[in-house]
Amino acid sequence: MKQGELRRTLIVATFLCFSLFVYLYWQQGTRPLHSLVLTYKRIYTSSRKSYPAQWTWHCVNQKCERHIVSEKSIITGLSTCNMLCGSTQLWPQPTGPVTLGSKALSFNHAQLQFANSTLLNEALASFNDTVLSLVRSDVTKRPDLNKFIVRIHITHSAISRLKLKTDESYSLTLKCTKNKEIVASIGAKTYFGARHGLETLAQLIWWDDYRQTLMVLKGATIQDKPKFPYRGLMIDTARNFMSIESLKRVLIGMSATKLNIFHWHLSDSQSFPVVLPRVPQLAKTGAYGPEKTYLPEEVKALVEFARVRGIRTILEVDTPAHAGNGWDWGPREGLGELAVCVNERPWSLYCGEPPCGQLNPENPNVYDVLEKIYRDLLELSGEKEIFHLGGDEVNLECWAQHLQKTNYSDLHDLWGEFTLKALERLQKANDNQPIPHVILWSSKLTKRPYLTKYLNKSQMTVQSWGGSQWSDTPDLIADGYQVLISHVDAWYLDCGFGRWRETGEAACDPYRPWQVVYNHRPWQQFRLNKNQILGGEACLWTEQVDESNLDTRLWPRAAAFAERMWSDPELDTTTFGIQEDVYTRLSTLRDRKSKKSKKSWAKP
Ligand SMILES: *[C@@H]1O[C@H](CO)[C@@H](O)[C@H](O)[C@H]1NC(C)=O
Ligand SMILES: *[C@@H]1O[C@H](CO)[C@@H](O)[C@H](O)[C@H]1NC(C)=O
Ligand SMILES: *[C@@H]1O[C@H](CO)[C@@H](O)[C@H](O)[C@H]1NC(C)=O
Ligand SMILES: *[C@@H]1O[C@H](CO)[C@@H](O)[C@H](O)[C@H]1NC(C)=O
Repeated sequence: MKQGELRRTLIVATFLCFSLFVYLYWQQGTRPLHSLVLTYKRIYTSSRKSYPAQWTWHCVNQKCERHIVSEKSIITGLSTCNMLCGSTQLWPQPTGPVTLGSKALSFNHAQLQFANSTLLNEALASFNDTVLSLVRSDVTKRPDLNKFIVRIHITHSAISRLKLKTDESYSLTLKCTKNKEIVASIGAKTYFGARHGLETLAQLIWWDDYRQTLMVLKGATIQDKPKFPYRGLMIDTARNFMSIESLKRVLIGMSATKLNIFHWHLSDSQSFPVVLPRVPQLAKTGAYGPEKTYLPEEVKALVEFARVRGIRTILEVDTPAHAGNGWDWGPREGLGELAVCVNERPWSLYCGEPPCGQLNPENPNVYDVLEKIYRDLLELSGEKEIFHLGGDEVNLECWAQHLQKTNYSDLHDLWGEFTLKALERLQKANDNQPIPHVILWSSKLTKRPYLTKYLNKSQMTVQSWGGSQWSDTPDLIADGYQVLISHVDAWYLDCGFGRWRETGEAACDPYRPWQVVYNHRPWQQFRLNKNQILGGEACLWTEQVDESNLDTRLWPRAAAFAERMWSDPELDTTTFGIQEDVYTRLSTLRDRKSKKSKKSWAKP
């Protein structure tokens, strides 16, 4: 071969290799996409530029499996596959019979019509908003449905306040008529049952990403009612202030998961944020700042916001302990020391955490102030069936060191007498009517022998917050008291972030994962008499929580708690206690909630 030929051959060969390389590279980059684009152009027309879908979902053995798409695939999005595959996607799971259709129909938000809407204006408006918040694009295509009618029937429509005995049951049917109209009928004894029915209906509606439309199940029948009457969530707004907006988000989450009691731990020794009309001095000297207060009209409006969402609000001003800042104006107004040990050091001698402070039980003016506080709390919440008297973590050393005249050989008796006097003032504040359920945090006072000496078992309920292995709860039940369960090792949502001052593990570490929250079922484990268990309450203390991490501390664990209280499902001993469907249902709830938060969860 001549030298010139060799060079030519090499050049040609190099060129051919390069072309082949470019061709292969181009093929690799475009071929699959090319065919996909043809398949999806018709379907995927969201206003946002999107990456074409590569997956479709098939229901196999009651689970949605991901398959790569081919040109012939009919594409099903994950949300639609989930809704039509295996278990319900409801949270909490209904306790009565459920049948769900296996087909879905598309509709537009504008097609929703409400019959009998005046019966529950606010609940319908909130349902309407929830459905609207699912919508992701304005693409209007011809929907499968001609109409979507929501019909409500309430037997006792005059009942406007939730009580422990209020019937919260509902039934729901979804039917598709021949002329392609969906009729959702909700029947309930009360507004509160009907409202739960609307929450369930909202969970049968979803957004299909691929078809870019709202979808609803073609048929369903559901009967449902809760296992416990008291399904509470406590938020502390004294360690850190929470804005009204952030509390509304909490309430919307609660209503979506059918929790029904918002226990608002208003004050503590750190701050006193609520402006009480009869005793404005408390907030004036106790709030963190002028912006960090709750005005009476704000509290009332929030109570109403909660009520229409099926939630009653219990306002707690903790006493005699956990009361410091806000209580130091007594001497200036000629009332003497209302509180002792306020901001006392070293704090570890006088309280569980700084700053210290405890009411002065020897000062009679304290009881006059308490009566005024109680009058205000009763008026602001309108709540006359349940009252929380506080009673958390009294430190007797504080009283022993600071009280002048006391000659009690056992200061528990002083504490017991304080509680009786406070109860007397509560009754006076309530037009001399006894409040049927008065709650106290569990403490030394709620143990024998003080318990039976000072607390009337037909009126007092103890919120048992100690460890689930402690004898507190079974003892209280054995002694005939009603209990509200808030076991620290299961339902304290603030734990697991170390101590907030010193280094090292905190007393209430570790973190309670959602599975621990979900699996807690002390009535089964200890064979406790369920009739004496009013229900449960998950608690969020806020030493290390403010409104920027409030939502993530609460959800989805508060939802896990909500299902425990509403449905109380059996534990599956073969799978860490948790039934397989729980994972998908909780995941669906979380997904639905996070989408919603982009639009209307924060909306007033
Ligand atoms: C539902 O929402 C739509 C769109 O915002 C609104 O026009 C309609 O009045 C709402 N209906 C009810 C009952 O709130
Ligand atoms: C409206 O409610 C009343 C009483 O609850 C009931 O008799 C009536 O049938 C309802 N109307 C519709 C259209 O559902
Ligand atoms: C001290 O004890 C006596 C006898 O028990 C009692 O009468 C008196 O009221 C007590 N004093 C105070 C200040 O509690
Ligand atoms: C306990 O409370 C009930 C109901 O409020 C009341 O009827 C009863 O008299 C009370 N008992 C005592 C010893 O105070």
